[in-house]
Order: sequence, then structure tokens, then C-alpha cells
Amino acid sequence: MAYTLTTILLAVLLCVSAVKPYSDNSHDGICKYMVETQGYVCEEHQVTTKDGYILGMQRIPVGRSNKTADRPPVLLQHGILTDATTWLLNSPDESLAFILADNGFDLWLANTRGTIASRGHTSLSTNDPAYWDWTWVQLFTYDLSAMYEYVHNQTGQKQCYVGHSFGTLEAFVSFSEEKLLNMTKSAALLAPIAYIGQMSSLFASAMVTTSLSECMYQLGLYEFIAGGPQLLLNPSTIAVFFDHFPQSTSTKNFVHLALMVRKGNIAMYDYINESENVEHYRQPTPPMYNMTRIPNGIPLFVSYGGKDMLSDVNEVQLLLDNLKDHQKDKLVVQYTEDYAHFDFCLAENANRVVYDPLMAFFGAT
Ligand SMILES: *[C@@H]1O[C@H](CO)[C@@H](O)[C@H](O)[C@H]1NC(C)=O
Ligand SMILES: *[C@@H]1O[C@H](CO)[C@@H](O)[C@H](O)[C@H]1NC(C)=O
Ligand SMILES: *[C@@H]1O[C@H](CO)[C@@H](O)[C@H](O)[C@H]1NC(C)=O
Ligand SMILES: *[C@@H]1O[C@H](CO)[C@@H](O)[C@H](O)[C@H]1NC(C)=O
Ligand SMILES: *[C@@H]1O[C@H](CO)[C@@H](O)[C@H](O)[C@H]1NC(C)=O
Repeated sequence: MAYTLTTILLAVLLCVSAVKPYSDNSHDGICKYMVETQGYVCEEHQVTTKDGYILGMQRIPVGRSNKTADRPPVLLQHGILTDATTWLLNSPDESLAFILADNGFDLWLANTRGTIASRGHTSLSTNDPAYWDWTWVQLFTYDLSAMYEYVHNQTGQKQCYVGHSFGTLEAFVSFSEEKLLNMTKSAALLAPIAYIGQMSSLFASAMVTTSLSECMYQLGLYEFIAGGPQLLLNPSTIAVFFDHFPQSTSTKNFVHLALMVRKGNIAMYDYINESENVEHYRQPTPPMYNMTRIPNGIPLFVSYGGKDMLSDVNEVQLLLDNLKDHQKDKLVVQYTEDYAHFDFCLAENANRVVYDPLMAFFGAT
């Protein structure tokens, strides 16, 4: 990488400072605004993590068809800078959340810390710098595990998992650490992100970031504002998407991602200072996660796109190389040449291209 870390950080800070601030009470709930309006039953839930964050979850317990099978629970985890609304933006026949509910799944929507539905904390306010002292390591260690356990407590069943973008990193890393496996039936990873060393387009344009629109550009939205994938999206979906994007994430999380881009590995947060690393990890460099440790028998549906600037095809290949010993009947890999990063949530034809095969996989595993 030709870019210095300082340049990247500066660009990221400019980018973050351009993001519109949200007031803590600005939202009455995703159920009320995004789900009930479509004629679905919806419940708001709250889950407290071991480090005190109070997360909002939404549940759509039944779909429109009243299918009464055993209703396997499914947890949907959004990516960075978005929230659960990612799964609800299109019509019920085109949005994954509604489709899963209509097909007999007990649907649960995750919202990670810092997003509108998840800004509570047992002792901190969002104005406290300490509230924002986390990266994706905390998102999988605390948020994802608490939401998983909560869904398990509520339903008593193993769950299916669907992650998009950084929501896939959280699952890959958890599974590689042998976490959540005992509560997982199968997992679908859309626009998968594990290795990001070649995410150069993102940080190349970060160098010239001066406004929010450019910030979105380098976060991959370029692909759906201009170019081919536009054909796949409905203009009203784009308008609703921008109403909900971007959601807050911590600057430290960006720093962590910038370090991963620079080093091309999947490691814990690097404090740069060796003695601080020793203090946190008992070793001078941050410990690495190893994707070859993902157990061979866990059913995985991996779907990636040829026009995705964030989930680069070469890096997906690295990940798939790590999965080469996976049991053949437990791994489905799907490639859609004209799909960009957000097409997996927003494209009008995603129901046919991605969601039908995804549900077939969940039904078969
Ligand atoms: C679903 O079941 C409820 C209660 O049993 C009933 O009121 C409703 O009309 C049913 N909806 C459909 C679409 O069949
Ligand atoms: C799940 O249930 C156990 C046992 O009742 C409880 O200790 C735990 O806090 C619950 N977890 C969550 C995330 O609600
Ligand atoms: C899953 O395993 C963890 C330990 O890794 C344990 O704490 C937890 O109780 C287990 N949950 C279930 C539902 O078996
Ligand atoms: C590293 O961190 C330690 C403890 O926080 C501090 O005392 C030391 O000055 C730092 N070293 C450098 C080179 O910044
Ligand atoms: C991951 O584990 C495999 C098998 O144990 C090993 O060959 C490889 O070097 C490890 N990779 C990293 C990055 O630690």
C-alpha cells in the first residue's frame, strides 16, 4: 500500500465528521416505521451485553402466510455503517426479512452498538468517549454473542444466521474461535468480508475525501449510484436507503480496519505500542484469527459478487482457500457477476438470485 496510515486516518476522520449526528431519541422504533407499516406483526426487544451496551432487536414472529411449521429462528446481522433497516428497504416480496418471515422463519434483526436502535448503555452515554472505545472485535465478542444467546433463550432452538458485509466477518471470526457453533444450524454469508488487504479502492479515494457524498463513494456506494448495478435497484429504495445511511460506528473501528488493509491479515486491534500490546494480549503483536480453524462441518452458504469493491473477489478467494477442506455437502459458494456490495440486500432481483437458493440451503441443512 502506498498510502501512509496517517493519510488513511485523516481521511477517515474527515469522513466520520461529515456523518450527520443522530439524537438519542430521534427514533420510535424500526418495528413501527419499517415493519408494521407493511402489515407484519413486529416486537421490539432489548438485550444487554456483558460490557453494558443495550441493544435493540426486532422480531417478526410470523409472516403473512401464517405458516405454522416449527418456525426455525433466523438472525440477520447487518454490516458497518448500516442497521437492521438494511433488510427492510424493498417491498415485502423483495426484502430478505419479509421473505424469510413469509416462508416460515421466526425472524430476528440485530442492531449493533451505536446504531439508532442500540444507543443505550448501563452506565455510559453516547457523549462519553468510552462509549465509542471498541472495534469489530467487541462487536462479535459482546454484541453478536449476546444477541445469539438471547434468541436461543427465547426460542430454545439452534438458529440460522445471515450476515452481510462486516456481519460476515463477525461470524467467520466467531466460528474460527469455536464460538456460537453450538447455537448455529447454518449460516449464510453475503458479500463476505474476511481479508481486506486489497480493499484499495476504498482507501485510495479516502485520500481525497472532503464531503459525505465522497465518503459514501469510497465506502462502495459508488457502485450503486453509477454504473451497471443501478439497473438492479429501484430508485425509491435508494432514497429510503440514504434516509437510514450511514449509521454511527466508532472511529477506532475504522482505525482497526485501516490496519487490516495495511497488513492484509485478520488480527486483533494493534495498539502499535509494543508495551500496550503486551498489556492487552501478553505478546508484542496482536493475536491473529485463523480462518482455517472454521470447523469443516458447519453449513455455510457464501454468496459474492463480481462488482463488489469492498468484498474483493481475490480476497474472497483467499477465504475460500482457507475453507478448502470444508465438507463438500456443507458448503455452497455462489458467484453473481453483476452484483455489487449492497445488491445482496437491495437489488430487485435478489429474491430470485440469492434468497431462493439461500432458503433452499437453510431447508436442506
Ligand atoms: C393469520 O392468523 C390470524 C390469527 O389466527 C388471522 O387473524 C389472520 O387473518 C391470518 N392471516 C392470514 C393471511 O391468513
Ligand atoms: C439467557 O438465559 C440465561 C439463563 O436464564 C441467562 O443467565 C442469560 O443472561 C440469558 N442471556 C441473555 C443474553 O439474555
Ligand atoms: C454453548 O457453548 C458455550 C461455551 O462455549 C456455553 O457457555 C453455552 O452455554 C453453550 N450454549 C448452549 C445453548 O449449548
Ligand atoms: C507505550 O505505552 C506505554 C504505556 O502506556 C508508555 O509509557 C510509553 O511511553 C509508550 N511508548 C511509546 C513509544 O509511545
Ligand atoms: C492457520 O492455521 C494453519 C493450520 O493450523 C496454519 O498452517 C497457518 O499458518 C495459520 N495461519 C495463520 C495466519 O496463523
